[in-house]
Amino acid sequence: MNWESGFLDLQAEDRSVPLMAEWLRELSDAPDQMDPNSQQRFYDPTLLPLDLAIVEAQPDAEGITLLFSDGHRHYYPYQRLMIEASLQADPDDVPQPMPWTIDTLTPPTLQWDQRKDSWARHNVLEGFFKFGFALLRNTPSVEDSLLDIAQVFGPIRETNWGRLFNVRTEAVATDLAYTGLALTAHTDNPYRRSVPGIQFLHCLANNATGGESTIVDGLSICNALKAEAPDEYDILTKLPVSFRYLSSDVNDRETAPMIRLDHNGNLRQLRLSTRLDFPPAVAPEILKKFYTARRHLARLAAEPRFVFSFKLQEGDCLMMDNHRTLHGRTAFAEDGFRFLQGSYIDHDGPESQYRTLNRQLRKMQSAQTVAA
Ligand SMILES: [Fe+2]
Repeated sequence: MNWESGFLDLQAEDRSVPLMAEWLRELSDAPDQMDPNSQQRFYDPTLLPLDLAIVEAQPDAEGITLLFSDGHRHYYPYQRLMIEASLQADPDDVPQPMPWTIDTLTPPTLQWDQRKDSWARHNVLEGFFKFGFALLRNTPSVEDSLLDIAQVFGPIRETNWGRLFNVRTEAVATDLAYTGLALTAHTDNPYRRSVPGIQFLHCLANNATGGESTIVDGLSICNALKAEAPDEYDILTKLPVSFRYLSSDVNDRETAPMIRLDHNGNLRQLRLSTRLDFPPAVAPEILKKFYTARRHLARLAAEPRFVFSFKLQEGDCLMMDNHRTLHGRTAFAEDGFRFLQGSYIDHDGPESQYRTLNRQLRKMQSAQTVAA
């Protein structure tokens, strides 16, 4: 550890990362600086001196004590610094997504009577974050019980479709979902500024011929597009497309690229719904590239290696990340009854729950290790 340069040089495997005095000072979780419960600072860091410096450093095997020019002294464990500087994964955080094809997929599953078991819920959430969906089995197949099921994971996100919506054939359908037509893999509600994060589809009856559910990993098909046609991938990350939904009392629209990336260039959100997207009237050569790219992505979304297809049984509930996975269904006949109910929650619910469970279970495990 070297700090004479004015920075604390943190040694990662193959490089040295300079940490600023101000950055370190703000990170202090001393009990008079930061609330130990909420981890919110007690003070306004914009009032700290601009020329704040490290004036003394005393390392030991596990960390380092720093004295700052404003008189504050604090001990920083190396592991915490590594995590805060993004040089090491936070063990409490949600797992990274793993792109899948049907050959590599193990659908994460939770038997509903296990839902109160912390490990069972932790494990199904872990699978959910890796694969983008999970199957909840043997849930109560009672109308409207989806509200209770979904709320195990987070508060309901209400939309103009209600807190809960019915997916069955209707005489006058307000959406193609309410017909027996096949639905190609799509994102739900891409026309919202804040697209619902997680969708639940709860099966109450499914004895019509057909009506298989399909799930496609948006991450896998975006990776495939990027590998096969980088230019096409590129335009889908850049061209702002207008997504729209219109009914007698709703007029939703949002303009966004089909593929939204995070600051590291990883997939943050896919919007694919080719019945309600309208690109801008840009130069024909750009539009041509967009149409080619969209066709390519839609073709990938229909390739059998990417399509996990299965028939929901009464009491099954599908939980899927609507920013990552696409969902659809095959057509179904009117020789039986197919009745699903749907609802949305935000990502925050399961993400926060997973981090909390992770922390609790790790603490429990280390207490058991000490006791043993
Ligand atoms: Fe849908």
